[in-house]
Amino acid sequence: MKLAILIMAAGKGTRLKSKRPKVLHEIGGKALLRHVIASAAQVVPPQDIFVVIGHEAARVEAAMKDTGVKFVHQTEQRGTGHAIQTAEAAVRGHDSLLVLSGDVPLLKSETILRLRDFHLEQRAAMTILTACPQDPTGYGRVLRKKAGSPEVAAIVEQKSLTPEQQNIREINSGIYAFQTAPLFAHIHELTTGNAHGEYYLTDMARLLVNAGERVVALEAAEPVEVLGANTIAEMMDLDRELRLQTARKLMAQGVTILRPDTTVIDTDVEIGPDTVIEPFVQLLGETKIGEDCRIRSYSVIENSILANHVTVRQGCVITNSRIERGALIGPFSHVRPESEIGEGAHVGNFVETKKAKLGKGSKANHLTYLGDVEIGSGTNIGAGVITCNYDGVNKHRTLIGDGVFVGSDSTLVAPLTVGNGAYVAAGSCITENVPEDALALGRSRQTTKPGWASFKRKAGKKE
Ligand code: UD1
Ligand code: CA
Repeated sequence: MKLAILIMAAGKGTRLKSKRPKVLHEIGGKALLRHVIASAAQVVPPQDIFVVIGHEAARVEAAMKDTGVKFVHQTEQRGTGHAIQTAEAAVRGHDSLLVLSGDVPLLKSETILRLRDFHLEQRAAMTILTACPQDPTGYGRVLRKKAGSPEVAAIVEQKSLTPEQQNIREINSGIYAFQTAPLFAHIHELTTGNAHGEYYLTDMARLLVNAGERVVALEAAEPVEVLGANTIAEMMDLDRELRLQTARKLMAQGVTILRPDTTVIDTDVEIGPDTVIEPFVQLLGETKIGEDCRIRSYSVIENSILANHVTVRQGCVITNSRIERGALIGPFSHVRPESEIGEGAHVGNFVETKKAKLGKGSKANHLTYLGDVEIGSGTNIGAGVITCNYDGVNKHRTLIGDGVFVGSDSTLVAPLTVGNGAYVAAGSCITENVPEDALALGRSRQTTKPGWASFKRKAGKKE
């Protein structure tokens, strides 16, 4: 039995009122369509997954190219039935076809497999995945031949429901299994005599029944899995549900998430056991956090790797960076892309790093800018130190050795090297390399005028 999966993703998503195609909108930090492809790819290899694209096709194809799926172009979007007609040549060689919807992203691969197995057991021409959510408004309804029977008579779209049919709670999820032979034998009988003037795939149920074919329904165990996202509000409901699922999965692995309803954790984030995530934290993209870490409130960590025993205090922003074991970040640090914070290193209050490497145990605790810099181990960067890495045209690097002491409020004008064990006096402007173990002073001498202040005050009073 050759099985293909077809994902309908050509629609514009008019109800979103967005310039972005619907299937590229994100929940859990990933495009709707990427979630659907990921579930499908657990059932069949990517070369047997066909995605029907149309609205902004080039953009959708470019965004999903890396998945290895095949694309079918539906240049005019004339309805879900028309989407399948368009794909006929591409999928004909397969005996069975599972049809998924690009805007139903929470569907799990286990449910796709259940649908496939039920469809084959039932020897049906068409099997409809259904659900009974709290509020069925907006969905097509499934008319079973008799209550409790698997057999279906028809699917009726919301707009065509009679007053009695309004009470039917069983909805069409828009997910189906078909035998390709009867599907393509009858699909050209679809007509556009409906509220939208479109070819509805849902009409295949009635057409196949009238042709003497068997059409059945399978109810999904969890209605939430088959909810669709037609509006931003619906999409954000799914986003919340997905993030809660992710939080529950992580908690089952030993992660403590205080108030998971306040955290924003993307689907692919990994966290080790005994790590604590405080309220209002965002963990985004491909972030990986080790064991025994603590991420304090209001920190946003994106595409970064944190080893074990790392503490991120309140209000930090960490992007595309790496933090080694036992390091301490924050509060209020900005760790910008390509920073590497070494084992046990400290990056403190109001410190900004960019392409900055701090060696083992080095510290920059207060009010500092470290850009394009490599710092050895055991070095102390005083409060207010600035690497002047930009000359208005080019960026230059600063190299600071091991065991260096850079006094507060120093400016280090790159390109510059400060050797191991050197001292830079507080308030220096350093423009020349500092050799190993040297002391560099780059400031004017202090002048003190005894009694000047009281003289000034007296002079002021006379006037
Ligand atoms: C559809 C079903 C409805 C079901 C609901 C479940 C029809 C007529 N109705 O309605 O019974 O309850 O899904 O979520 O099928 N698409 C194309 N080409 C087109 C039109 C649509 O590829 O020409 C794609 C869309 O991008 C979308 C999917 O098909 O991913 C479903 O289309 P949509 O317009 O969202 O259908 P619904 O109104 O939700
Ligand atoms: Ca939809």
